[in-house]
Amino acid sequence: MNNSFYVTTPIYYVNARPHLGHAYTTIAADVVNRFNQMRKAETYFLTGTDEHGDKIVEAAEKENTTPRVYVDKISKLFRELWPELGISNDDFIRTTDKNHIQIVEKILQDIYDSGDIYFSEYEGLYCFGCERFYTEKELVDGKCPDHESKPERIKESNYFFRMSKYQDWLVEHIHKNPDFIRPERYRNEVLSFLKEPLEDLCISRPKSRLKWGITIPFDTDYVIYVWFDALVNYISALGYPDGKKFIQFWPSAQHIIAKDILKPHGIYWPTILKAAGIEVYKHLNVHGYWNVDQSKMSKSLGNVVEPLSLKNKYGLDAFRYFLMRDMVFGLDSNFSEEGLVNRINSDLANDLGNLFSRVLAMVHKYFKGSIPQIDLTLDEAASLSLEKDAAEAVTEFEVCMDKFAFHKALAAIWELISKMNKYVDLTAPWELAKKKSSQKQLEAVIYNLLEGLRVISGMIYPIMPETARTMQKHLGIDPGASFYELDHLRKWRIIQPGTILPKTITLFPRIDVKKEDAANGDTDQDVKTRLKMKPEISMEEFLKVDLRVATITAAETIPRAKKLLKLEVDIGEKRTIVAGIANSYSPEELIGKQAIVVANLKSAKLMGVLSSGMLLAAVDEKECTVAGMDKPVKPGTPLS
Ligand code: MSP
Repeated sequence: MNNSFYVTTPIYYVNARPHLGHAYTTIAADVVNRFNQMRKAETYFLTGTDEHGDKIVEAAEKENTTPRVYVDKISKLFRELWPELGISNDDFIRTTDKNHIQIVEKILQDIYDSGDIYFSEYEGLYCFGCERFYTEKELVDGKCPDHESKPERIKESNYFFRMSKYQDWLVEHIHKNPDFIRPERYRNEVLSFLKEPLEDLCISRPKSRLKWGITIPFDTDYVIYVWFDALVNYISALGYPDGKKFIQFWPSAQHIIAKDILKPHGIYWPTILKAAGIEVYKHLNVHGYWNVDQSKMSKSLGNVVEPLSLKNKYGLDAFRYFLMRDMVFGLDSNFSEEGLVNRINSDLANDLGNLFSRVLAMVHKYFKGSIPQIDLTLDEAASLSLEKDAAEAVTEFEVCMDKFAFHKALAAIWELISKMNKYVDLTAPWELAKKKSSQKQLEAVIYNLLEGLRVISGMIYPIMPETARTMQKHLGIDPGASFYELDHLRKWRIIQPGTILPKTITLFPRIDVKKEDAANGDTDQDVKTRLKMKPEISMEEFLKVDLRVATITAAETIPRAKKLLKLEVDIGEKRTIVAGIANSYSPEELIGKQAIVVANLKSAKLMGVLSSGMLLAAVDEKECTVAGMDKPVKPGTPLS
């Protein structure tokens, strides 16, 4: 079996400074990279910067400098940020690198020679912000959906890549490889796009309009379209076509991107690879967007979150933990500092931190800091199910990490932490310590707890490498030992009795929210306003709301109402409900789902449809998630 693993992030544009969104993707790539090292894979992790195109020229002009000086400056900001965030990339590619340019030229020439690039006149709607042509259909109210500005109609002679030729092949490839693009919602998005005939891709820009790019090898009046140039980074960095790294790592390639660049990665890139006779990547992993205070991060709103300042304020591992725990990979998430502080206090300081210091304090109190011996027969009695619990957690962790379900992988670790906290309460070591006769039992209990902490320190390694190392040091684990390898974590009774452990430490200090808010000048009311909390209601008022479990039996779109879906639901009786969830769900994916509805809301007509009830959903600016039950329930069951 080829035990290699190759992961990439998008190469980031250098027209803006790095922010929370860039940090998330790069940390996610770092996490999966480290996780694959836990599986003893040989790994390769690539990130970098995308430095050609109109946007860069504009940004340089704004700063009164040349593109060259400008790209060097911003690329350096990205390159220098990554070590600060614990990123362990093996390479940092820049599209202005000589090697990269040569490989882009070669691939373009190869595809041209094979007849899949042709020259033609084209008139179309061009968005300068996106640096691409749009079809009428792709526009929203005649505007570019990203820049919300009207594209300009331009007429030019250009080179085109015969992308349409590969449409059927791509559809078949996606069908044959169900997790080629994941999670499923993005696979469906690409497939639904491919239901329409694919147009050929314009892959050149006349130099009269744009000079900052790679010259087309067979026509020096043109430069190469930025996306063609940028996508090739994933193989030029490996030394395509015959570099050792390309041969070893490319077959295992996994790209990580956010939903904004799904089309170039899900459609342009596989068809370019196919046309060039190169094997396609293995998986495209697509995540959602981080919004801030329910809005898109943007310079003009002044809500751009700086990763470095969060790391400096709260610590690197807490920041990494929060990002991985609070975003469901694939869906949008809302960033707030309150959320981060809550996670630190409850998950890190309270659950993990307390368990760790509690156990280590007992080693010092009862065994003068020395890991106790363990009596084999008594161990069975005293371990209860801790050994089994740990093994189950490791299995669940592995399954979830493999699917990029980081939040679930972390939930599995925290489930073990909670079981261990209960184990302490149940075995009550302080009682065992009172009697000589229960000394052996006390030894077994403490030993088992230390083993559990060892397993936890290994599992948190990809997300919180520094904390993992600190825990390891305090558990007396040999730093040379492969303490985080999964094979190791599946074993029990690894740590050495008799090892003297250093005094316990606080892994994560609690953050005093009141003090922080007071320091910010915030009163309780300010905090409530910031969190957009509604005024208190009485139980009596609450009980007036009739909440019921509903099964969705049919769903359809409503003409001219982009956000609305008409749903038929079963709540013990049949109802029609109109819900504003069309941006996040297709009608097909809702059928059979269970949801929670307000059954006694006055009926109202929405876009001509009478809606009798309201579907509950968590809503932020871009995404909504329907509230449901975690196992099937009889339709109509009331909630109380
Ligand atoms: N240069 C292209 C990518 C070329 S890859 C061959 C580009 N650059 S970008 O700087 O705009 O980066 C986009 C990526 O940054 C997203 O796909 C995502 O990885 C990350 N993010 C930017 N903003 C984000 C959020 N608000 N939330 C989450 N990630 C986001 O597109």
